[in-house]
Amino acid sequence: MFSITTLLNQTHRLLIGSGAALLLGGAMMTSASAADIATTYDNSCAACHDSGALNAIKKGDSAKWQQLMKQKSMPALINSVKNGMTQMPAGGLCNNCSDDDYRKLIEYMSK
Ligand code: HEC
Repeated sequence: MFSITTLLNQTHRLLIGSGAALLLGGAMMTSASAADIATTYDNSCAACHDSGALNAIKKGDSAKWQQLMKQKSMPALINSVKNGMTQMPAGGLCNNCSDDDYRKLIEYMSK
C-alpha cells in the first residue's frame, strides 16, 4: 500500500539529493583563494615579474603598477595578459586562469 510515510521518505531523499548537488556546485564555483593566487603567481608570473626579466614590471613596484592601472584600467591590463604583449606570452604562462584570477594576480603583484 502507498502510505504517506513512503511519500515523505521519498520527498526527503529528493531534498537531500538536490541539497548535495547545490553544495557541490557551490564548491566548484568558488574561485581561487589568496593562497592559490600566491602559488599561481609563483608558478606562472614570477618567472618574469619577480626579477623584472625582459623589462617586466616587478612585483612590489607599487608606484609603477598604480600608474599603469590608472593609465590603462584593470580590464585593459587583464586583456594584455590574456592576449599577450611584445615579450609576455599570452596568458602569462597560466593556462587555466580566469579573468578574476588575473585581476587578483595583478593586485597581488602591485603590492
Ligand atoms: C615570459 C615572461 C612573463 C611572464 C611569465 C608574465 N609576464 Fe607579465 N609582462 C612581461 C613583460 C616583459 C611585460 C612588459 C610588456 C612587454 O614587453 O611584453 C609584462 C607586462 C605585464 C602587465 C602590464 C600589461 C600592460 O598592459 O601594460 C601585466 C598586467 C602583466 N604583465 C601581468 C602578468 C601576469 C598576471 C602574469 C602571470 C599570469 C604574467 N604577467 C606573466 C613578462 C611576463
